[in-house]
Amino acid sequence: MKYKQEFAKILYEALDHEIQEKELEMLIEKPKNHLHGDFAFPCFILAKVKRKSPAVIAQELSEKIQSPTIEKVEVVGAYINIFLNKKMVSEDTVAEIIKQQEKYGALDIGNNRPVTIDLSSPNIAKPFSMGHLRSTVIGNSLAFIIEKCGYKPIRINHIGDWGTQFGKLITAFKLWGEAEKVKQNPIKELLTLYVKFHDEAENDPSLVEQGRNWFKKLEDGDEEAAKLWQWFRDESLKEFSRIYDLMNVQFDSFAGEAFYNDKMDHVVQLLEKKQLLVESDQAQVVELTDEGLPPCLIKKSDGATLYATRDLAAALYRKENYDFDWSLYVVGNEQSLHFKQLIAVLEKMGYAWASNMVHIPFGMMLKDGKKMSTRKGKVVLLEEVLNESIAMAKHNIEEKNPNLTNKNTVAKQVGVGAVMFHDLKNFRMNDIEFSLEDMLRFEGETGPYVQYTYARACSILRKGNWQMAVTAPVSSPSWEKEWKVVSLLTEFTNAIKRAYEQFDPSQIAKYIVDLAQAFNKYYGDVKILEDNEEQQARLALVYSVTIVLKEGLRLLGIEAPEEM
Ligand code: ARG
Repeated sequence: MKYKQEFAKILYEALDHEIQEKELEMLIEKPKNHLHGDFAFPCFILAKVKRKSPAVIAQELSEKIQSPTIEKVEVVGAYINIFLNKKMVSEDTVAEIIKQQEKYGALDIGNNRPVTIDLSSPNIAKPFSMGHLRSTVIGNSLAFIIEKCGYKPIRINHIGDWGTQFGKLITAFKLWGEAEKVKQNPIKELLTLYVKFHDEAENDPSLVEQGRNWFKKLEDGDEEAAKLWQWFRDESLKEFSRIYDLMNVQFDSFAGEAFYNDKMDHVVQLLEKKQLLVESDQAQVVELTDEGLPPCLIKKSDGATLYATRDLAAALYRKENYDFDWSLYVVGNEQSLHFKQLIAVLEKMGYAWASNMVHIPFGMMLKDGKKMSTRKGKVVLLEEVLNESIAMAKHNIEEKNPNLTNKNTVAKQVGVGAVMFHDLKNFRMNDIEFSLEDMLRFEGETGPYVQYTYARACSILRKGNWQMAVTAPVSSPSWEKEWKVVSLLTEFTNAIKRAYEQFDPSQIAKYIVDLAQAFNKYYGDVKILEDNEEQQARLALVYSVTIVLKEGLRLLGIEAPEEM
């Protein structure tokens, strides 16, 4: 990024300040083939200003380009291609990475301002679905990326722990439930009860009435109802925590839907005061006709509040308590309308900050091209998936490196990392096909591939006895063979910036795969450990690669074992 800015500055001077540096920087391209240079500047837009052909301009302008960081300037048609000074840039970059360590690539955008991230947010008494896995993994990575850009992320797990379904569940438990069974296998048992309720209700409509009554009691603070609900919630969270521990995901808040129960009257009052609440079919709604959206339901005819009401209360609460610059919601694509309505209602209420709320949607997880569902019989339990992946990773390790000391830890890092990477390597809106075999491959664009490359680089450093403390400038006569790797290292900040701007962790995933590939090619072409005067320079480069690979993986929420 630094070098691109520098090139823009040189152009700015060469053009006698005719075009702004920022604009020039945006016009600079990166040639697909690095043999065509490190940057290219297309001169087309100058044609109008200068009233000459772009090719003539390119020729004239190229003659004015001179800088110690630029080795060669070539003109091809309307393009000015520049080649960076490999020696200088390589030495600078390696020195910079060694100096900054894991801070390398950081951006100074956020001023430590808070950003709330609503992520994961599973529903209690139900299995953790693939959608919630995606939200967890994408949201967790975005939190790291945002932090790297200088913001203070606040991870909020908006647990789905309120709603009419809990009246049904209490009814079912009171009729058929056994406490012992629930304790042993809470989510599975509660799900069974819930499914049974629906089956039985088909023949016995009075069940629905009972469910409604229990929910009413729950909302009114009935002791028995509250106790059962609290128990279901505790047991579910215990189970979810195991999954979060496996994935190494932490939250700053577990304030879920129920947390807002006592904060909704206030929302309803505000809406009334602002005369936004209207009666429709005996329910209270906010009309959003002008916004081209269906009305947002606030209160049902029986007075019960809704998902949207709780989200309104949550938005106000978050603004007041965290004073966020941005409020992000990492929630599946199917809730797009809900978030449009939510933001529209808040805007109608006059809150300018509503425009800083962003829904970050994502596509579905598919199995054999079909949606994975948590409905009867087809339940795919995430914890089982993770454990299976860990077992497969362990098996791989037993085959490839049976003498590894901390096999179980590494198997966990690799197995879980594989599942996470598989999710993050695609643009989030794409649907992704679930396949453990694909996730765990050691070749191609996988988590294990990047981790393995990292471990290999670490092993080279061990063999070469690389001393971290080396501060003397490392130098090599050409840096020719290293160039692909170095030029990727200079690109790290760019990848982070793109990931941040598009809320898209796949920018980082793709970047570290590219870096791993370039490094492995280098490893194949060059005798890194050969004992000559350039060895230190090569090892310093290897060390820089380990720093960036590890930091890239960390931004995805994935660990980097030093041996595997
Ligand atoms: N529990 C919801 C679901 O599973 C997701 C909640 C997302 N967050 C929010 N603030 N609405 O569909």
